Amino acid sequence: MCGIIGYVGHRDALPILLDGLRRLEYRGYDSAGVAVLEDGQIVVRKAAGKLARLAELTQRAPVHGQVGIGHTRWATHGVPTDENAHPHTDCTGDIVVIHNGIIENFLPLRERLQDHGHHFRSDTDTEVIAHLIEEAYARLPETPERMETAVRQAIAQTTGAYAIVVLAREHPDRIVAVRQISPLIVGRGRGETLLASDVPALLPHTREVMIIEDGEMAILTPERVTITDLSGTPRHRPVQHITWDAEMAEKGGYPHFMLKEIHEQPRALSDTIMGRLDVEGRVELEGVQAPAEFVTALDKVWMTACGTAYHAALVGRWLIEHLARIPAEVDLASEFRYRDPLVAGTTWAIAISQSGETADTLAAAREARRRGSRLLAITNVVGSTLAREADDLLYIRAGPEIAVASSKAYLTMLAAQIMLAIDLGQRRGTAAPELLTDLIHGLRALPGKVQAALALEESVAALARRYRDVEHLFFIGRGLDYPVAMEGSLKLKEISYVHSEALAAGELKHGTLALVTPGVPVFALVTQGHVYEKTVSNIQEVKARGAEVVAVAYEDDRSISRHVDQVIRIPRVHDLLAPVVAIVPLQLFAYHVARERGHDIDQPRNLAKSVTVE
Ligand code: AGP
Repeated sequence: MCGIIGYVGHRDALPILLDGLRRLEYRGYDSAGVAVLEDGQIVVRKAAGKLARLAELTQRAPVHGQVGIGHTRWATHGVPTDENAHPHTDCTGDIVVIHNGIIENFLPLRERLQDHGHHFRSDTDTEVIAHLIEEAYARLPETPERMETAVRQAIAQTTGAYAIVVLAREHPDRIVAVRQISPLIVGRGRGETLLASDVPALLPHTREVMIIEDGEMAILTPERVTITDLSGTPRHRPVQHITWDAEMAEKGGYPHFMLKEIHEQPRALSDTIMGRLDVEGRVELEGVQAPAEFVTALDKVWMTACGTAYHAALVGRWLIEHLARIPAEVDLASEFRYRDPLVAGTTWAIAISQSGETADTLAAAREARRRGSRLLAITNVVGSTLAREADDLLYIRAGPEIAVASSKAYLTMLAAQIMLAIDLGQRRGTAAPELLTDLIHGLRALPGKVQAALALEESVAALARRYRDVEHLFFIGRGLDYPVAMEGSLKLKEISYVHSEALAAGELKHGTLALVTPGVPVFALVTQGHVYEKTVSNIQEVKARGAEVVAVAYEDDRSISRHVDQVIRIPRVHDLLAPVVAIVPLQLFAYHVARERGHDIDQPRNLAKSVTVE
């Protein structure tokens, strides 16, 4: 989720680049940089931290030229430092690259290039691209198309998701860009052309844009934009007129960041999984360094988190116990350290935190380490406090999550834990190989299943209109459906301010059933086959008291409809993966109820995105 801007034309590039990066700030970032061709030399200015630092740097050491590229980085590989900030150059400094996405196979490429004498300055996957282009460029004859040919040859060696932009000293009239999954948009002005990762950066200059598609290259000169496929065959892209204002553009045309992030979930899941399942289906979690003897001797996993991350941990606990056959306990971080936890050297503490800055979670993680436990951080922010204090790191790669109410971070926390549980099951030999194979196939299919679940939005919005004025609402489920019920309830509470409660379905009769009166809505999660009949009988309990029951069930469940008032039908997945899909209609329900009630969805009252106080 990095921000990209490029300019080639008759005006000074630097102010255009800096303004474009400012308009992409909402995407979140941890460092920024620009490269401008000045008097025949590529000049790079880049800095970790906020854009203001880059602006100061370019004020102290200005650079002038009519072609340049700029980047704001959301780190996925390599902590935020000046060296890891983009742009990155090849050995000569004559080729410079910026990149949004993930180069899956960067490690073997980097090793081969280093063996061939290439010197790397950063820890990023991106820098590999600059050296690949350098290597290809050196072998090509001096023709006007030498640069774009070298870029095609370099890109052909990589796998992953990317939008890359290249500037070369010997080709001062152009910038070359390639798209493979990560967004890339091109705009044309008078005697100038621009490109960006997102519309807001182009709006001050043009509303006439072309969307570059996957597997396409754009070659920008001051007078024209040439689009080809990666074999060099010309492609035509229609020019679209953008009608959004700047605010709408920041949200990708969605009315709220939360809805944008709910719809980004298929892409976020793909990023989380990318490069972590090898062709044989083995899990490779690059940041989890725990040695084999530790994993074998492990006698307990102790998970700690807050809020949505806690609900994700409850799902992870189930998967770890089921696949790795290790006792796993989950504690609210704010409770963990006050219970004198029995944590020892053979315990693996796992702290989950999107921000990596939540005070309660940091305190719990530190307490676990103080008691001798090894610490795994599952987090979204590279270089966050939690990441820096952990022994093992598992980044969820959700990209920046702007809305206070978490959606894509939750889903990618689940995906990360599914891979962790599979990895532990594989390494400890405690999971049936056929089950692991099923789960890995199921994992790869999850982005598509979530995409299908997002198609439920219209019917869920209708349900939200029906229940927009309810006072109380319940979510019930058994097994893995229970933590999903908890997350669905939290989503509803934190943005619609409707009181709701999640219950283990079997617990209703022990008290809360007293609150179920005629007309009270009850959402029942019914995905877990091994407790299906039990959950149906709990549904009958609340139906007998007049509740209106909405079931979240698999699309091929032909019996549930006779027990409930309405069914939200989700795509079938392996029951152990069901939370990833079942939560989607509940996220959408909470969003639309809040929207019906006219609330500030992205910044709900009393709440903060990262709770850095205890
Ligand atoms: C989730 O919608 C809330 N914003 C909140 O519960 C959040 O999950 C919690 O504060 C933990 O945040 P963290 O993941 O950044 O540690």
